[in-house]
Order: sequence, then C-alpha cells, then structure tokens
Amino acid sequence: MQSSLRPGQAGEGHQQPQAYAPSGIKNFSGVNVKNENYLDSQSQENTSEPVISKVECEGLWKVFGVRSEEAIAAMQQGRVDRDKIREQFDCVPAVIDVNLSVASGEIFCIMGLSGSGKSTIVRHINRLIEPSRGQVYVDGEDIGKLKPDALRHLRATQIGMVFQDRGLLPHRNVRDNVAFALELRRVKQERRDEIAEQVLDLVQLTGWGDLMPDELSGGMQQRVGLARALAANPDILLMDEPFGALDPLIRRELQDQFLQLSANLSKTTIFITHDLDEAIRLGTRIAIMKDGEIVQTGTPEDIITSPKDDYVEDFVRNISRLEVVKAHSVMSPVEEYDGEDGKPLNSLAYASPETNLGELIDIIIKRSGAIAIIDDGKPIGVVTLASLLKGIRGSELEKVANND
Ligand SMILES: Nc1ncnc2c1ncn2[C@@H]1O[C@H](COP(=O)(O)OP(=O)(O)O)[C@@H](O)[C@H]1O
Ligand SMILES: [Mg+2]
Repeated sequence: MQSSLRPGQAGEGHQQPQAYAPSGIKNFSGVNVKNENYLDSQSQENTSEPVISKVECEGLWKVFGVRSEEAIAAMQQGRVDRDKIREQFDCVPAVIDVNLSVASGEIFCIMGLSGSGKSTIVRHINRLIEPSRGQVYVDGEDIGKLKPDALRHLRATQIGMVFQDRGLLPHRNVRDNVAFALELRRVKQERRDEIAEQVLDLVQLTGWGDLMPDELSGGMQQRVGLARALAANPDILLMDEPFGALDPLIRRELQDQFLQLSANLSKTTIFITHDLDEAIRLGTRIAIMKDGEIVQTGTPEDIITSPKDDYVEDFVRNISRLEVVKAHSVMSPVEEYDGEDGKPLNSLAYASPETNLGELIDIIIKRSGAIAIIDDGKPIGVVTLASLLKGIRGSELEKVANND
C-alpha cells in the first residue's frame, strides 16, 4: 500500500497534519478538567520518522446490486457511462475508485451533495459494509483481513461514530447513554460513571447526566452523541453530518467547540458534510465528491484558490475568501514591486505568508500602500492593493480580465 502522507513531507494538494501539542484535557472552552490522563493517553507525538496514514482507502469501489462485478468491469473499461449502469445492470454505483489518505490528527472533511457516496465511504472505514473492490487500512492494517474478534475490538476501542440521527436510547439518562458502550464491555459501574462524567465535562454538559435525552435541546443531544463516541477514547472519530439538522447559529457554535476539542484531544476525524462552508471551517483537508467519485482533495485554501473544474468552482463561488485565502496565494514577486507611492520595500508594512485576506485588509486600511510578505526574516513577495482586491474577488475577476 502507499503511505502517501507523512509528517514533514507535504505532497501535492496535501497539507501537513497539524502539529497538535499534546496538552492536558480541556473542555470545549479550553478549561482543564479533572483526571487529565484518561483521554490524553493516546495522543500522538510528532516524530521525524515516516508514519503510515491513520486511515487510508485504496481503489475503493462499492456498487450495490447483484451484477456489481459486471458493472465495475464495464465502468473500468469505459464501456458504459455511470448513469447508464443503473438501467443496464440494475446496480447503484455508490463509490467509484476512491483513494484517500488521512493523517493522524487531521480533520478530513468529505463534502458532497446528498447521494454522492459520502456515508458509503464512512461505512467502509469500520467495515459495516464490505467493498466491491479495494482496501481500507487503519494504522496500516488491512481491515478487510481482520477476524471477527479483531474487528469487534477495532470498532469498540479505536473508532467512534457520531451521526446526524443521534440514536440516543430514550429510556436511559444522559450518563447511561454515554456509558453504554463501556457497559457492553463490562466496565464496572463506578468507573463507567467516572468516565461518563469526564466526557460530559469535555462537551460542556457537566451536571446534565441525570436528565433524559428528550429533556435536552437538539444541540445538547448532539453533544451527548459526541460524548458517547469519546467515552471509549477512540483514536478515530467518524462523524456523518453530525450538525446537519441543527439551526445555523447552534451549528456554528458546535463547530467552534468541536475545533477546540479536537485540537486538545488529537483525534483523527473523518467529517462528512454537504455544506462547503462547514468543510472549510473545520477541515485540515477536504475531499469533494460527485456521483461516487472524489473530484478534488486539498486544503480549504487549495480548493478555494484552485478549484479543479466547473463543478468545484460552482461550490466555491459564494464562499467568503477573507479568512481562508492567505497572503502567499495573492502576493506578487518582490522583483515586480516598483516602489509604488515612492516607498522602498524596507519601509512597507509587513506580514507573514499565512496572514489571511481579512487581516491584510486591516493592515492596508491602517498603513495604506503595499505590504511586504516576510518569511524567515526575508521578503518573499509583496501584496499591493490591486493584488489584494484580485485575491478577494477570486477567479471571477481573472475571467472578466481574460474576456476583455
Ligand atoms: N444499501 C444500499 N443499497 C442500494 N443503494 C444504496 C445503499 N446504500 C446507499 N445506496 C445508494 O448509494 C448512493 C450513495 O449513497 P450515500 O453514500 O448514502 O450518499 P450520501 O451519504 O453522500 O448522501 C445513493 O445513490 C444511495 O441511494
Ligand atoms: Mg449520507
């Protein structure tokens, strides 16, 4: 198998996994909570040694239907279009030759419209369904080869799932819902309760353990779902449109809280969403799906600044670029700076290559004139008012310019 993403070695369209410093456990608001060792025990240290991807799908196909083999062969040979597969073979091609590689600590978003195959991919990662073709590796191990016991162990200890439909048990209180998996694993009641209280603290539901699920708001129930997934202290979280049914404001709040929690716990997350805004806010990287295939994988900035085709471009058109696009994407070479306004390079305001467009606007408003972009003490580019405006406007401006 390929282990395509390694710390310290960013490949094309890949961002290095964020180096989350191992820290004590904090809750959503960053407040330290009791018994710091429990959830922190699996946090990953960064090393210079190459590591295997945490989760990898290689040549993954899932075609539903009795004649799936014939359908795949026909598609691979280019004999039949995807939209003809249904009528010709009575099959549904849900996932088509998907390759993805998720690094430890990443929040990897899979974004696509309803029916594009997102949930089907996720169901392969804990092997709720078997692929038609291809492999899924978790920590380098081909999970298709796991014996039933090993598979049960993987699901119970390494992978936590959170769904839009929270699936809370209505007749158990919040604490017992959170501790349910531990109960199945015969963890003693006292220890179960202790862990449940800890994870409820993490999701800011301290003190809510005795209530029944239907006494909580939708956003709170979703946090119980997350707490339940965290209770087994898994390395990997699979989240399938977890915030999809919530009101926009609550949704945004939960996204922020999840980002905070994620940074503190060093989990690897595969996060499914149909909302590009959400993917951009949360994702270390994003894979965009269409009709079972991944059309583009990249950082939010890659996707926004270089959409691969018209399909992706349509999605990114209405996304605000201010927080996502950074100076390094809009600056022009130092050599092209012609001392605008009579200011030499060394007298310009300066910023780092990671400064976003919104912050660059603030600098230009305060200081007027161009901004030198400095990396490692050296100027590597210049952002002028024109290049900044072009960056804000994005590719549409280029189109207009090219048409002139
Ligand atoms: N068990 C199944 N049997 C037949 N078709 C299925 C099954 N599960 C999913 N599909 C089909 O596969 C496609 C992808 O579905 P899904 O992965 O649920 O998409 P998404 O999560 O992106 O909305 C859809 O056309 C869906 O109808
Ligand atoms: Mg789905």
